[in-house]
Amino acid sequence: MIPEGTLNQIQERVDIVEIISSHVQLRRAGKNFKANCPFHMEKTPSFHVNPDKQIFHCFGCGVGGNVFTFLMKIEKKDFREVAEALADRAGVEIPKDRTVDEAAEARRNEALKANRLAADFYQNILWKEAAGAPARSYLKARGLTDETVREFQLGFAPDAWESLTTALKKSVPEPALERAGLSMPGKENKGHYDRFRKRIIFPILDAKGACIAFGGRVVDDTQPKYLNSPETELYTKGRQLYGLFQARTAIRTDDAVIMVEGYMDVIGCHQAGVKNTVASLGTALTSEQARLVRRHTSNVYILYDADVAGENATLRGLEIFLEEGMEVRIVRLAEGHDPDSFILKFGIEMFRKALSEAKSLFDYKLALLKQKFDPKSVEGRVKIANEMVGLFSKVKNEILLSAWTLDLARQLGISEAAVKAEIEKSKGGRDRRPAAAMPAPRPLADIGTPARLTGGAGLTAEKILLGLMLEESSLLARGKERLSGKDFQDPVVRRIVEKMFTTEAIQSVSGWMNTFEDAEAAETLAMAASEAEKAPEKKKAFEDCLLWMERSRLEATRDDLRTQIVEAHRLGDQSRIHQLLQDFTELNKGMKKTHEKIKK
Ligand code: UTP
Ligand code: MN
Repeated sequence: MIPEGTLNQIQERVDIVEIISSHVQLRRAGKNFKANCPFHMEKTPSFHVNPDKQIFHCFGCGVGGNVFTFLMKIEKKDFREVAEALADRAGVEIPKDRTVDEAAEARRNEALKANRLAADFYQNILWKEAAGAPARSYLKARGLTDETVREFQLGFAPDAWESLTTALKKSVPEPALERAGLSMPGKENKGHYDRFRKRIIFPILDAKGACIAFGGRVVDDTQPKYLNSPETELYTKGRQLYGLFQARTAIRTDDAVIMVEGYMDVIGCHQAGVKNTVASLGTALTSEQARLVRRHTSNVYILYDADVAGENATLRGLEIFLEEGMEVRIVRLAEGHDPDSFILKFGIEMFRKALSEAKSLFDYKLALLKQKFDPKSVEGRVKIANEMVGLFSKVKNEILLSAWTLDLARQLGISEAAVKAEIEKSKGGRDRRPAAAMPAPRPLADIGTPARLTGGAGLTAEKILLGLMLEESSLLARGKERLSGKDFQDPVVRRIVEKMFTTEAIQSVSGWMNTFEDAEAAETLAMAASEAEKAPEKKKAFEDCLLWMERSRLEATRDDLRTQIVEAHRLGDQSRIHQLLQDFTELNKGMKKTHEKIKK
């Protein structure tokens, strides 16, 4: 974590126009600059850079942020890398994180050195020593070329107790070898012995190519098949992806990543030309792993072994990617095969075919549920819909969500509004009633149909309102008076507003971006500020937005009432219908008033 103050300091000393200019041809347009957006294809420029606010925003595709966000996106780097480079340029020193003391830093460096030396040692045995012969023939028998073996830096730990420890202890003290997970203390103070013996060694590299851990595979049927480094100062389970270093470039060019289970799967795919493959290293997928790849792509193919364990691991993995706003597809291979064995048996063309037939997460889960519950019965549909909605609530991507909503409604023969209502409920963590999954009876003529588009307008109003509050402190004060975070439906806007309402500090838009440090917030802030800037009369625009939000809130309530009325109608609950229709009429009156105000 880099202190916010430092980020603001860096930002004050660099100019976004100058930095963007070195990547994009900017033209002046009034007090702003314009260009064809570098992040999507377009013929007329909708990419705006605002020198006053030091932000950029594309009215076409919605990207936006400040100078940090821009560089992260265009250079595909992570936040820290960008901040460090800019700090350098601006002559600002990034203070050392106080929790990382120098002794720990020194220990990490020592462990890195130990791993590097160990990887070299194991490789040397594999290629040059007689002891490496069985490993060489094993790898050959598994179809790996010398080139592949070198690219993945595979090695061999000989069948001996102390070969590595003896070779390395001249350069790295034994306790350090132990901390690196390479050596283990012997009994009765008899010195250390090697952790990996008689195993093929798979170095695990971090994203920059530094060796941080090892996996070791037996060359016979001994158990366990794989032995991995323990957790160390360098290596935490669930934080790394095997093969990411070798796959990085391909993940970007293919704009997709393939997640497999095993070391050999990564290597087998890579050798066959499918180089955008990484493995989760024997653990369930974590959100940290999702974030590691999200820097490079938002498309994920999950390709786990076709057994029950694989199925469960797949389902757990899926949700993690959804929560990170990524799109997930699932690939199934023929029973009993993993990617490596599949490619060896059926060839790469068949493998690519299986990839191209990947199911969306939606189809995958729906198919599983249709096997589990009977889609022909009402109860079955209720169960299916509820389980699906549980998944929907994890989807961060709005476009994807609306496509799924429509699709689910069609496939189960229920109304889209009912699905939406259930999604809202499960998001709010309120009780999940099965009502939404009931087949809709014939429509009640006098309650109309849901207002589909106004929700969008309501969301835009929220953003403009946010932009206006950022621009004028008097409007921020009025916002605080009239609204609370809960009045905002967009989760990102809500998060920002809640923070603005609870801190005294007044910040610039771009300062707020540094506060949040995430791309979503930066994008929303940039859009909010850019939209708000277009409003000729800020105060009037502010009041309009309040009305729009009110109207959109009422409409959501009305949709909810509609769903309830339809359900009561289906159940033939006359008194409830009566009550609900009364509420409905009341609500409509309220809405008329809002409408009239908006017209004025
Ligand atoms: P697999 O048993 O599918 O191994 O385990 P694999 O990668 O296909 O290896 P081959 O083809 O039999 O040589 C998948 C992954 O689970 C972890 C490893 O990361 C492995 O690659 N694993 C498996 C372990 O950590 N320990 C084990 O004993 C087994
Ligand atoms: Mn395998």
